[in-house]
Amino acid sequence: MMLDDGFADVPAGRIAAVVTHLDMHEPARLRAEHVAGELSFHHIKRPEAAWYRQLYAYVGGHAWLWFSRLKLDDRALEDIIRDPLVEIYALRHGVADEGLLELDFREKRACELAFFGVSRKLLASGAGRFLMNRAIERAWARDIDRFHVHTCTMDHPAALEFYMRSGFVPYRRQIEIAPDPRLEGVLPMSAAPHVPVIAPQ
Ligand SMILES: CC(C)(COP(=O)(O)OP(=O)(O)OC[C@H]1O[C@@H](n2cnc3c(N)ncnc32)[C@H](O)[C@@H]1OP(=O)(O)O)[C@@H](O)C(=O)NCCC(=O)NCCS
Repeated sequence: MMLDDGFADVPAGRIAAVVTHLDMHEPARLRAEHVAGELSFHHIKRPEAAWYRQLYAYVGGHAWLWFSRLKLDDRALEDIIRDPLVEIYALRHGVADEGLLELDFREKRACELAFFGVSRKLLASGAGRFLMNRAIERAWARDIDRFHVHTCTMDHPAALEFYMRSGFVPYRRQIEIAPDPRLEGVLPMSAAPHVPVIAPQ
């Protein structure tokens, strides 16, 4: 896959990102929180597919090109998000859902921070730290040995260092090459302008 000169081809119609995998093996110390009182944290039991898809696209799709969950039909999506080993949380600002946290315990004695983010409106407001502290508490409330996450270069540029400050340690990097969800009609062409669309001729 990797050529001698360090370059790898990316076919037209695809997007490429460097993915960093990180984990922690004991609960990290929670960091100080600086948030105003309008934030609240809610466990959404048996979420509706339409509600989840809307929040996922709002937090991660249009801004950061999250796409995997947008490709699933209602049944396939609800099979995951209603699994008793998957926990979905919404971060609310007033009455509006402005952040998503998904913890996946389907792997034995492990938890994946499967999706984590706040809306553009709440970036750099302290909401991310508030949500991460809740994520660490909820993950380690179950009997696990490992809490892990991956992030890629299409995500917010501060995400990787934010995860490292949160106590996750990088252990592997990969290149991901995936079909461009904008060309597949999964997301609008205007999504994530920091990742250029290279359509096949
Ligand atoms: C990754 C992400 C959650 C980081 O969030 P953020 O907006 O930078 O988070 P915050 O504003 O809470 O925190 C940044 C830091 O500023 C601090 N801060 C924020 N407001 C502050 C204030 N008023 N006073 C003092 N410190 C403050 C926080 O405490 C935090 O400090 P720490 O990291 O040293 O503990 C956010 O960028 C995001 O949701 N991105 C979009 C989705 C995404 O890319 N997700 C990751 C993909 S897997």
